[in-house]
Amino acid sequence: MKLLLLCLGLTLVCVHAEEASSMSRNFNVQKISGYWFSIAGASDKRETIEENGSMRAFLENITVSENSLDFKFHFIVNEECTEMTLTGYKTEKPGTYSVNYDGFNTFTILDTDYDNYITFHLINKKDGETFQVMGLYGRQPDLSSDIKEEFVKLSEEYGIVRENIIDFTNVNRCLQARE
Ligand SMILES: *[C@@H]1O[C@H](CO)[C@@H](O)[C@H](O)[C@H]1NC(C)=O
Ligand SMILES: *[C@@H]1O[C@H](CO)[C@@H](O)[C@H](O)[C@H]1NC(C)=O
Repeated sequence: MKLLLLCLGLTLVCVHAEEASSMSRNFNVQKISGYWFSIAGASDKRETIEENGSMRAFLENITVSENSLDFKFHFIVNEECTEMTLTGYKTEKPGTYSVNYDGFNTFTILDTDYDNYITFHLINKKDGETFQVMGLYGRQPDLSSDIKEEFVKLSEEYGIVRENIIDFTNVNRCLQARE
């Protein structure tokens, strides 16, 4: 009986460990390519996603390559929409990419259903300081309140409070600058 309980216990640990790793084994990165819209951002350093913040990036599309992901973003610089493509390169850690942009960043895909939403988690390191940014993106310009609420909960799990989450659907996201 004790042995049975131990096995059961181990199974639960194993299942949980698998859930904790950002994406499951059958995750197909190719399927995240194409057009996306920035829906919401979260950060434990709020000013980075506020107006003129370096992480206030409005996504247009993702291009998937063997060892990298290209993100075409629009930023508002001096009140004008400015295009920038950033490339995240695969690191030794599965599912983790890195990019030099306003410091050194590593990011992972936390969750996606490919057809509706995707969430990213990024850690920025600069001048010996660290902050986190999370992003929610949709295939359409807006997402259901259920998905948005899931994003709030997920952010809270990473220690980002609700007050530090910004809904981008009612701000200028440079939609007119998209192709
Ligand atoms: C996406 O953005 C890239 C630039 O990164 C561009 O070359 C490409 O044509 C865009 N469109 C699609 C559908 O990938
Ligand atoms: C953002 O930058 C613009 C132009 O540089 C400036 O006019 C505006 O006040 C800034 N906004 C904030 C919230 O700092």
